[in-house]
Formats: sequence, C-alpha cells, structure tokens
Amino acid sequence: MNGFPDDFVWGAATSAYQIEGSPLAEGAGPSNWHRFAHTPGTTENGEHGDLACDHYRRWKDDVALMADLGLRAYRFSISWSRVLPSGRGAINQKGLDFYCRLVDELLRRGIHPCATLYHWDLPAALDDQGGWLNRDSAEWFADYARVVWRSLGDRVPMWATLNEPWVVMDAGYMHGVHAPGHRSVHEAARVAHNLLRAHATAVQAYRASCSQKIGLVVNLEPKEPATPRPEDLDACERSHQYMNQQFLDPIFRGSYPDRFPEIYGEAWPEISEADRRLLQTPIDFLGINYYKRGLMADVARSSTGRPEGDRMATMPPYAREVRDPARWHTELGWEVFPDGLTRILCWVKERYGDLPLYVTENGAAFYDPPAPIAGRIDDPMRIEYLRGHLIAARDAISAGVNLRGYFAWSLFDNYEWAAGYGKRFGLVHVDFATQARTPKASALCYRELIRTNGASLGATLP
Ligand code: FCB
Repeated sequence: MNGFPDDFVWGAATSAYQIEGSPLAEGAGPSNWHRFAHTPGTTENGEHGDLACDHYRRWKDDVALMADLGLRAYRFSISWSRVLPSGRGAINQKGLDFYCRLVDELLRRGIHPCATLYHWDLPAALDDQGGWLNRDSAEWFADYARVVWRSLGDRVPMWATLNEPWVVMDAGYMHGVHAPGHRSVHEAARVAHNLLRAHATAVQAYRASCSQKIGLVVNLEPKEPATPRPEDLDACERSHQYMNQQFLDPIFRGSYPDRFPEIYGEAWPEISEADRRLLQTPIDFLGINYYKRGLMADVARSSTGRPEGDRMATMPPYAREVRDPARWHTELGWEVFPDGLTRILCWVKERYGDLPLYVTENGAAFYDPPAPIAGRIDDPMRIEYLRGHLIAARDAISAGVNLRGYFAWSLFDNYEWAAGYGKRFGLVHVDFATQARTPKASALCYRELIRTNGASLGATLP
C-alpha cells in the first residue's frame, strides 16, 4: 500500500498538438492552433507544431518507451481535425485509424489508454463559424465524440471531454495569448458557458452508447492573498471563484459562483433554466491539473474605483499575481508549492463531494542540459518537484481524498504552446533536431516509484 492504494494509476500525459507533428497529414484539416502558430507574432520565435515530437510517425516506438518506463496509463488527446477535417461531416478514416492503432498498441502492452477529446485544437473550419462562441458548438462536439466512440468508446477505459476549459476561455478569448487569439470579456463569458454545455452534451451522448468512465479535466490552484489587506483578500476571493469554481460549481452545485455578475459585469450572460440543468449532468471522475499556487493582490484603482494598469489588470477578475521571492519558481515563473496539491484536493472533496479524483497533469519546466552528458540527463529539480507533489498526493489520500491516480506532465519535452520548444517539461528529453529520446533521471526515478507503488518516495534518488 505505501500510502497509495494497490490499484493506484501511475501515468504520464501529453496532448495531440504538442507532440504529434504532421498536422495536415493523410487528409487532416487545419486546427485553430495550426493557424494561430503560423500567424506572425503569436508564439516564441514563431514556433509551431509542424514537427513537434514527430509522434504521428514514431508512435510505436514511443509506446515501447512507455512500456520500458513501466507506465500503467497514458493520457493523450485526439485531434478533432484529424478525425473530422472540417470539424463536422466527412470522416477522415486515416486520422481515426491513427488513434485506433495507438490504443491497440497501448492495450497490447498493458498500458491503460486515457483519452481527452479536446485539448485546445479546434478545427479551423469551426473557428470560422464562431468556434466556441457559437451555441451550436455543443452539438458539433457531441457529434465528433460520437464518431470517435463508434471506434473506441468501450476500448478506452477513461475519457475526458475537455482539457482545462478555463485556459481555453481565459488565454484564448479573454487575453488572446492562445488560439484563437481574441481579447474580449464578452466573448470569454459566453465561451466559458458554451464549453460547459459542450462537455455536458457529450457526457449525455456517451451514456447513450458506451459504458466506460467519463469526466472533465480542470486546472486548479490555491489562491492566497498577497497581504492581509481587505482589498487583497477580496481580489483573492474573486480569482478563486474565477479559476477554481467557474467550471465546477455549475456541475456539482447547479449554479455559477455568486460574484460572477460583478466579476464579469454586463458581459455575464443570462443562463436559462434548461442550460442550468444540462450543466449538472453527472460525471464519473474529475481530473485535476495542478502546477502552482496563485498569490493574489488587488489591481490599482482610480478615484472612481475603476481598475487601472496593463491589459491583464484591467480584465476580470481584476487581480494580479505577486511573486514571493522567498520561494522556488520554475522556468515559466510558476511558484513551486507542493502543499497546494493536498489543499486543493481536500477542497474539492469538501466542496463538491467524494467523487473519484485523478491528478491528470503535474510537472515542471526547468532548464536541463541541452544534450545528454555521458548518456544522462540529470534533472534534480524536476525529481524534487515530482517527489514533493507525490508526497502531497499521498497526504491527500491519508486525509481521506478518493485519489485514484497521477499523471506526470509530460512524458516528453514538447511544444509548450505560445512558449514554444524552449520550456521543457518532459520526463524524457527530446532532441528536436534528431528526434532522439533520452529518459531523464526523473523518468528513471518515476519508473522506480511506479515499480514500488510509491515506496521509493522516501529512498535516496538514483
Ligand atoms: C497545462 C496544459 C498542458 C501543458 C501544461 C504545462 O495547462 O494542459 O497542455 O501546456 O499546462
């Protein structure tokens, strides 16, 4: 047991656009990320996912590598525009076959496939019709899901509808730093609601035809006030509702958080009773992506109380993140705060009830040696990050949280969205020029953790 249940799921995660490459191969249509990354000025050094980890061609060797690392589960995502190049209508069988082969190979090697239907890459053809702003997106999504499920629905034991809807709406539609690059509070509010409608519509469609588990993946982080000033406490509460409660309250409590009309102002849409009921469609598990803590302060305000400052400060929830210099930060500037994982897992249980939980992503970008040294890539900071967070996960289990598994982000160094290839999250190093894969010391450490079901957490590291 070692503090982890005997059937604890040890896995690693990736997503389609971040690793596959060949985005237009064999009849696939372009996604909004393909289009966004090819628009000048949107990503670090203009980097895009045209090659990425070339997983579309190297999938078989990659599954062999997963087996070598002892992974029990693999979380990946399906590219909607490979399966349906125009987002709806004609099926691209070759695109679907890619995922069928991947799933077969995973099952053959005894690795549980965990598939996410939407990890941020919307077919560009649907973006042209308004994307998530269009209320029809719920049906588009459910129709796409049905196509995938006809081939894979019961062969994959664990399905996630959406990955991190908060990031889709906040980065994609509020701040414009992700595809589709829009900057509008009005759009963000509507997109958030439509994402939840799409999620719930797909869950209902799944129940009608398949019988495995289906859930949602959200990113959560504990919010703490930067100072005890009432303004900062209030900014902290707004940020907490905005990030942590926005997508969970409607599912588990039947309504959006109480401060929303104020946070979004007149941009907040009228929610119909039918939508409210739809959003409460039960799910089988919740996936939580956990990376960091958010230390929050209020933004500067004019004499009339209006928020002032840069674009981030003048958009909901009118809070800014403060850096605690005493703490350790990753290469993306994210604060390392393992205790926050225990806290957020306990908070979910307390607020939303005792449903099965998975940590569906957790990991860190650190500066690693750019190439193996004597065949090794030593990444002691990532090992420490991993250990700290697994201890925090174990603490949550001891506190009674129904945590069923943990997926490290990421199996590979990959395309970190607008940050490009420079920010490496992998357990496995990828040389992007040669596509050589080298398991880092953290991967070897993780293999040992899996082998001992967590017993080696206390041991000296390799
Ligand atoms: C999460 C995303 C994932 C990856 C990590 C670092 O927000 O789900 O694709 O980019 O962050």
